[in-house]
Amino acid sequence: MAKSQKSGYQITEKPFYVPIRDEVIIFERAFSEKIPVLLKGPTGCGKTRFVEYMAYHLSKNSKGTGLLFTVACHEDLTARDLTGRYIMKGGEAVWIDGPATLAAREGGILYLDEVVEARKDVTVILHPLTDHRRMLPIELLGEQVKAPESFMVVLSYNPGYQSVRKNLKQSTKQRFIAIDFAYPPPEKEIIIITTEGAVDRQTAEKLALLGNDIRNISTIDLEEGVSTRSLIYAARLIKQGMQPRRACSIAIAQAITDEKDEIAALEVIIDKIFR
Ligand SMILES: Nc1ncnc2c1ncn2[C@@H]1O[C@H](COP(=O)(O)OP(=O)(O)O)[C@@H](O)[C@H]1O
Ligand SMILES: [Mg+2]
Repeated sequence: MAKSQKSGYQITEKPFYVPIRDEVIIFERAFSEKIPVLLKGPTGCGKTRFVEYMAYHLSKNSKGTGLLFTVACHEDLTARDLTGRYIMKGGEAVWIDGPATLAAREGGILYLDEVVEARKDVTVILHPLTDHRRMLPIELLGEQVKAPESFMVVLSYNPGYQSVRKNLKQSTKQRFIAIDFAYPPPEKEIIIITTEGAVDRQTAEKLALLGNDIRNISTIDLEEGVSTRSLIYAARLIKQGMQPRRACSIAIAQAITDEKDEIAALEVIIDKIFR
């Protein structure tokens, strides 16, 4: 692969990541043992940031390459989008490797974000990559790429959105170990909001408290609690000079639900904290 092509996937700076439980050590061990990893958890709780951090961390502390090939899955994503395709260039068909092929050739982490969104044929091409074979068959090239030591497959998905149609097959799931992510506990979320939102500690404390209250609310039935990402957005609006209650209404209440009475109930909690 040309240097310029590869450099786009290289994590060169240490991503800011606050470890929540034992996920770093689990991931290190999985990497050493060549076991693929599934990250489960609600949206905006740190799964993607964790993978970015681990790609960097493994390149400094183990045999990782620091390469991270991220694929945002969607329902039109096909296996060919992952393996590669021919494109016409000056009247000639030129083969372009897809992210899975690049990762299998160069080593590094192949990260499929929100994998349940992808079509079933996408997960099927993962099978030979995630068992003892560790190889990727590319039909169009008649080639089998053998993945190096540093190659690893990581998937993420949000079990909260699960439906029968959108679920991983057992035969896929059981090739992975699964790390369960949850929202960070308040003392850690305060640090994350302070750093990522660049607000003072007092504001971060209030936002973390708000997050905690909303997640524990029993009077309304929200589809999902407020994400760390939304709390950070509120912090950033506040930092820009927006009145905190308005910032929280926009970044949090309006973002998590469209139901008028739920928004009103959330604004009551916001007003109590940011009087
Ligand atoms: N443990 C953490 N350490 C540092 N930042 C975090 C952490 N958890 C969440 N964040 C922040 O929250 C944002 C959303 O997290 P992200 O990894 O994109 O969520 P997910 O992939 O689970 O949807 C990140 O961009 C980051 O700013
Ligand atoms: Mg993500």
